[in-house]
Amino acid sequence: MQTFKRKIAAVLAPHAGLTEEKLAAALETPPDAAMGDLAFPCFALAKTLRKAPQAIAADLAPHVRGLDFVEEVQVAGAYLNVRLSARAVASEVLPRIRKDGIAYGSQPARGERVVVDYSSPNIAKPFSIGHLRSTMIGHALVEHLKHLGYETVGVNHLGDWGTQFGMVMAGFKLWGDRPLEQVDVRYLLDIYVRFNKEAKGDKALEELAREWFRKLEGGDAEARKLWEVFREVSLEEARRIYARLGVEFQHYTGESFYNDRLSDTIARLKQAGLLVESQGAQVVDLEAHKLPPCLIQKSDGATLYATRDLSAAIYRMETFQPARVLYVVGAPQKLHFQQFFLVLEKLDPAWAGKFVHVDFGHYRLAEGKMATRTGNVVFMEDVLDRGVEMARQIMEQAQRGGDLEEGQDAQVCEQVALGAIVFGDLSNDRVKDVVFDWEKALDFKGDTGPYVQYTRARIASILRKGGLEVPESADWSQLSTPEEKAVMMLLLKFPQTVEAAAAALKPSFTANYALDLARAFGRFYNLHPVLKSEPAVRDARLCLSAAVGTVLAIALHLLGIPVPERM
Ligand code: ARG
Repeated sequence: MQTFKRKIAAVLAPHAGLTEEKLAAALETPPDAAMGDLAFPCFALAKTLRKAPQAIAADLAPHVRGLDFVEEVQVAGAYLNVRLSARAVASEVLPRIRKDGIAYGSQPARGERVVVDYSSPNIAKPFSIGHLRSTMIGHALVEHLKHLGYETVGVNHLGDWGTQFGMVMAGFKLWGDRPLEQVDVRYLLDIYVRFNKEAKGDKALEELAREWFRKLEGGDAEARKLWEVFREVSLEEARRIYARLGVEFQHYTGESFYNDRLSDTIARLKQAGLLVESQGAQVVDLEAHKLPPCLIQKSDGATLYATRDLSAAIYRMETFQPARVLYVVGAPQKLHFQQFFLVLEKLDPAWAGKFVHVDFGHYRLAEGKMATRTGNVVFMEDVLDRGVEMARQIMEQAQRGGDLEEGQDAQVCEQVALGAIVFGDLSNDRVKDVVFDWEKALDFKGDTGPYVQYTRARIASILRKGGLEVPESADWSQLSTPEEKAVMMLLLKFPQTVEAAAAALKPSFTANYALDLARAFGRFYNLHPVLKSEPAVRDARLCLSAAVGTVLAIALHLLGIPVPERM
């Protein structure tokens, strides 16, 4: 798209009194493809050119008309609407996708690093569906940024320190009926749930939990041992889920990692003159920003979530020298991020604007037979297993999978289930709340991950069935139908879509693009035969189909969704 925009800008700029760059940036996509592929609004020129916008558009039209890739130019009110020729679009985009393959839309290394803090569950309890959004949004952002030439550092800021450990330790000492080696995460959850129930209104139990946590902080050997085991069994479970989701972190530096840095952080804040005492506690006053103070150290010397986050942020800046640090965390923590970002800015003004809270809305499973509830926690693993089971049923009912080879179906069900759950999340604007419904998310014809995966697999199957090499090039004038043109215009827009998604930190742009492309391909394929058309047309359509397959595969990959070859 950029190529066409630049060429149009080059001929128009001298007559519009704008730089080529400004002109190219002003070119829009008309709301309706019937109006054209690009539109130049002339309102803003009326003043400088002292003419009615409509007259300006009329004056500019002949200059664009002469361009060889332009099929039609129309003046519509203040707009100059330009229709690109299908042939020109094809010869621009199809060889490019063929050449770049899965690197289409990517950019060379920029030498800029971005730290992405995501997933970051509180452990000693099982991985719950609540942390799915952070995991998936964070992973998709990492993939987008990598595609665009950023170096990413994925960090899992595990909640591996805090009073929840005190509760589980106290509970384990009271009721534990298993040797430590046989403890797993669900066993810990039972203890956690029981403790919470019984501790309600029981001051002694609450005090016991605090005491165990104090022991842990004081370096008591038994507390330390319990903590290590509880942390390890929780991590084991989390790692299993990450492996299933295809998510990897460079660092598992959780809250406990910062234990021996906290006093330095506090000293640093003190030195910068930022700490003030308030009711015995140390705080950073944020009155000037109309925010409550950021609590750094309680009167009993205990540190807080914010203290650890400050230490972590300082550590990240010093260790990775990132251009930005993204925190993919739910919207309820908004105030926490506002507060400690301000404290960081006060510590070093050069850090202003480098920290970003990538917030997201609430996530819940649709009520009914799909929800698996144990002690009010929805286990991530149960949810995935349920999805795989449903995927299998749906594939069987629809008699899909005829194309599968022996032993592939289990893998494909897993891939489809992941496609459903990940796409079901990422296709929503992250700031909105999501109600996840397996049945809807697994609909092969709906606005779903499996629909996109299926379209991609169907293209792979067409190419396999043809048994033909996809030709290097073809007679692009054969791609002349509106359906083909619509597909190619979308292919042209893929790079800018990925850029926009990364700029807004919204994978939903890419997810919705993938749906549009899959739908556009479906409309084309329903009307126009590929393998059965005569050779010149067939070759061009094979190239077109292969290009769609490539771009859908990239889009799925950027979203963290597996790409089955057959379904
Ligand atoms: N463990 C926290 C939670 O589950 C999220 C941590 C997010 N990352 C951070 N640096 N605060 O609520």
